[in-house]
Amino acid sequence: MHSIWKKPIRHFLHGADYYPEQWPSSVWKEDIRLMKLAEVNVVSLGIFAWSYLEPKEGHFDFGWMDEIIALLKKNNIAVMLATPSGARPPWMAQRYPEVLRVDQQGIRNLYGQRENHCLTSPVYREKVACINGKLAQRYGSDDSVILWHVSNEYCGACHCERCQSSFRQWLQQRYGTLDALNAAWFTAFWSHRYTDWEQIHSPTARGENGLHGLRLAWRRYVSDQTIDFYKSEVAAIRVYDKKTPATTNFHLFFNKYQPEYYDFDYFKFAKEVDIVSWDSYPLWHSTGQSELTTAAATALVHDLNRSMKPGQPHLLMECAPSQPNWHRVNKLKRPGMHLLASAQAIAHGSNSVQYFQWRKSRGSCEKFHSAVVDHCGHEHTRVFSEVSEVGGMLKATPDATESRVQAQVAILYDWENRWGIEDYQGFRNDRKNYVEEVLRYYQPLWSQSVSTDCINQDSDLTGYQFIITPMPYMLRPGFVERLEKFVAGGGTLVATHCAGMVDQDDLVFQGGQPGALRKLLGLWVEETDALYDEEHVTIRSRSAALLPTGTYQARELCERIHLETASSLAEYASEFYAGEPCATENRFGKGKAYYIAFRAEAAFVDELIQKLLAQAGVASNWPTPLPKGVNVQRRCTATSDFLYLMNFNADIATLSLPPGEYTDAQSGLPVAGSLTLAPYGMQILHHCKEVDSKSGVQASLRTRASRKRLSIARAES
Ligand code: GLA
Ligand code: ZN
Repeated sequence: MHSIWKKPIRHFLHGADYYPEQWPSSVWKEDIRLMKLAEVNVVSLGIFAWSYLEPKEGHFDFGWMDEIIALLKKNNIAVMLATPSGARPPWMAQRYPEVLRVDQQGIRNLYGQRENHCLTSPVYREKVACINGKLAQRYGSDDSVILWHVSNEYCGACHCERCQSSFRQWLQQRYGTLDALNAAWFTAFWSHRYTDWEQIHSPTARGENGLHGLRLAWRRYVSDQTIDFYKSEVAAIRVYDKKTPATTNFHLFFNKYQPEYYDFDYFKFAKEVDIVSWDSYPLWHSTGQSELTTAAATALVHDLNRSMKPGQPHLLMECAPSQPNWHRVNKLKRPGMHLLASAQAIAHGSNSVQYFQWRKSRGSCEKFHSAVVDHCGHEHTRVFSEVSEVGGMLKATPDATESRVQAQVAILYDWENRWGIEDYQGFRNDRKNYVEEVLRYYQPLWSQSVSTDCINQDSDLTGYQFIITPMPYMLRPGFVERLEKFVAGGGTLVATHCAGMVDQDDLVFQGGQPGALRKLLGLWVEETDALYDEEHVTIRSRSAALLPTGTYQARELCERIHLETASSLAEYASEFYAGEPCATENRFGKGKAYYIAFRAEAAFVDELIQKLLAQAGVASNWPTPLPKGVNVQRRCTATSDFLYLMNFNADIATLSLPPGEYTDAQSGLPVAGSLTLAPYGMQILHHCKEVDSKSGVQASLRTRASRKRLSIARAES
């Protein structure tokens, strides 16, 4: 991890968003005392502090920031220093209304809220560059400032006239000519042929909203424009500070329900940040979804964030110490859950656990959001002690920071693909469920504790043995060629329904579905049936080896396919297409490509994926069967493994250890036989891979606790 830092950081980071500007300085000293008690070693400062840094236009006040940074430094607490662009001061909106966003209806916002600026506005860019420059000049060379926390959770889009022209310029760069744009957007439909760039407007319910090419282009533009804004923020910092790495906190991974709340292609965004960081707010203990599904979904997003910068750790920039305040029902995290959820982040590759927020605010809309320090103001609370326990866990395993997750399996989650699926109209409009389909195929990987990377269509596929591409609807150039190479070289591919329907412009492939995937899958798709919620189609297995249970159910979507070089693993057993194949295997070079032509129930997916993993020789992180709801993730160095054992059940779980020598990574004590995990309990095991042949002693007992144990053993002998 130290490669990105100004100075090596060889411990996990534990900290919180800290808003000293909300409190009199008399509280700061008490904050420091409490931070030390909770083993906090970093805070994010200044996230929404613009009004306090520049109270009047051009008048700056850094005195309080100097004071708090000095106080933190004296106490060995590092700083992630924010640029304040997440929220602007009222004076700016009053003097320069152009910084305010214009909505889809063409109405300019009034002053208020946050992260709702026009990112094209030259005034806004200039004001941000000015304050960022001042901060960088003043604090960039301070060693205790370890990271730039640029803005906060960028989101959304502006539809003002400036943004319209910037969009049109972006379009000219992408398409070159209007003829090319008209062809790519298929504007012959409903007489939409554009003859002047000025005729093009962002998608809006009042105007054009059905032209998929336009909608997709707009989402790409909004994503690019936000990334461009981020780059402009960093450029202003780099004038004075070339060394301190920078990030911005990603969020809203599975944003499906707020079309106005545009999100971005984070794979693309990740290329511009020095380290990926994200904010995680799962709905633990919900009645709407099983705890294990929540745990798997959270694991998936951890994996996604880790995978966006291969081989590097990421940071958990925010999570709630207990309950958030913006879900419909905000339950307390049950005892143990906070430590477990924190261990989960680390287990999947994060090198930090950080919170929103350090101290509960007295007023405004987040005053009941959990914090490390509650309104009671002292440390004698359940949440404070659970947070301190996380601090202890992180402190006890410093060597694990050097370890990385190594995955032989990858699952595709591609933003542009998702945007395309969200836009199409047909089949089951209310159940397109791309994210659910990704999760449906990720869940058996999680249940079997198989380390998994997330990839998009531009990712490097070398090194994987097993790849799952749920609903690869939109195919970008180059992806199929790389998939073919992967399978031909001996890899296993599982693709699910809705595959290869459109190209990168959202134009349907001519020659039929699955477009360029036809050779690799060895079949073509004739038509897609849609089922009502209460309906199902029976599936009958033709492969006792891969689908031993025999009969299963298809729901929602069933494709009718024709085999070319593929063979059938299962067939429909009801409906007018009974007897037709629905799950197939195609030998391709040294590998095999599978196609699941329907939306499968979990039982089918679990069984098939388990058998295919075994067939492909993919190992679980735990060689013997685990109790349901117990998950094991592995972080490795060349010589050591750190095994994170996590029990997502509300009951005790017992598991037996595989052969080999294990120590408890926190206490350094040996662990053998079987072990018990408390309800929502966790344990970290250290396993040394190298044995020193001369002494017969494990050569690389590198955890602090293990070293301690070794020195005790030496003293005794
Ligand atoms: C987001 C924001 C924080 C805070 C939390 C509340 O993640 O970044 O400022 O509003 O949500 O959960
Ligand atoms: Zn704008």
